[in-house]
Amino acid sequence: MDRISTGIEGIDEALGGFPVGRTIVVTGNAGAGKTIFCLQFVNACMKAGLNTVYMASEEDPNDLIAQAESFEWDLKGPKDAGTLNFMDLATLDDIEMEMAMIITHEARKGNFVGILQDLPEGTKAVVIDSLGSYTANLTVQDFKDQFGLLIHGLKRKGITALVIIDSATSKEFNDMALFWAHGAIRLQKRDNPYTGNRERAMDIIKMRNTPTPTELMTYDIGAGGITIAK
Ligand SMILES: Nc1ncnc2c1ncn2[C@@H]1O[C@H](COP(=O)(O)OP(=O)(O)OP(=O)(O)O)[C@@H](O)[C@H]1O
Ligand SMILES: [Mg+2]
Repeated sequence: MDRISTGIEGIDEALGGFPVGRTIVVTGNAGAGKTIFCLQFVNACMKAGLNTVYMASEEDPNDLIAQAESFEWDLKGPKDAGTLNFMDLATLDDIEMEMAMIITHEARKGNFVGILQDLPEGTKAVVIDSLGSYTANLTVQDFKDQFGLLIHGLKRKGITALVIIDSATSKEFNDMALFWAHGAIRLQKRDNPYTGNRERAMDIIKMRNTPTPTELMTYDIGAGGITIAK
């Protein structure tokens, strides 16, 4: 199975990267670093020259670009060049567009398979940050069906996808996404049993066809983004 860099050295070392054409779910609580993970992955996709779509439902693309900039990851260049496409509603700011947006957004809620139809031809990587914005009013069964169709559709297109689902939304749907995705990673905080200190820890819940560490991997968020402690 071909792999691509996650942008996080320690994860690439542990897993060999993300498997191409598969969907990986990253879950975690507020402030765990999910969006930074996304930006870091997108930066790696840019280095690999992959046409990428970032579905930013919670943050303004300009804010995301600025946040990436603070880690010295240039996303503006690729955006201007068309290699990176931000798709969502916040990009459009005149009032007419805003109306159209609201309608699209409403129509999209509970129909995240619709995401597939919006992808430009030649898209190789997709980031959805976060799926929780699309799940309103879904039953557990609907969520399962929709998510299954989404990952099947992405796979058929050969697209590698990073899908963020916050812990609360994931639980709301019985952690179904973690079962259905090819890989699943949880970002969390824990009390280190030896030092008594709070620390950030990453749990590679699963990665099919890949030997995975069973231990939690301690990580930091700093000037270089997410780094795994050695
Ligand atoms: N340059 C930085 N250096 C150190 N820590 C940082 C830096 N930038 C952000 N952080 C830390 O990362 C956290 C936010 O990360 P991020 O936005 O990726 O979280 P998230 O999981 O996406 O949160 P949310 O659930 O709100 O979307 C901040 O709360 C802060 O603690
Ligand atoms: Mg976020």
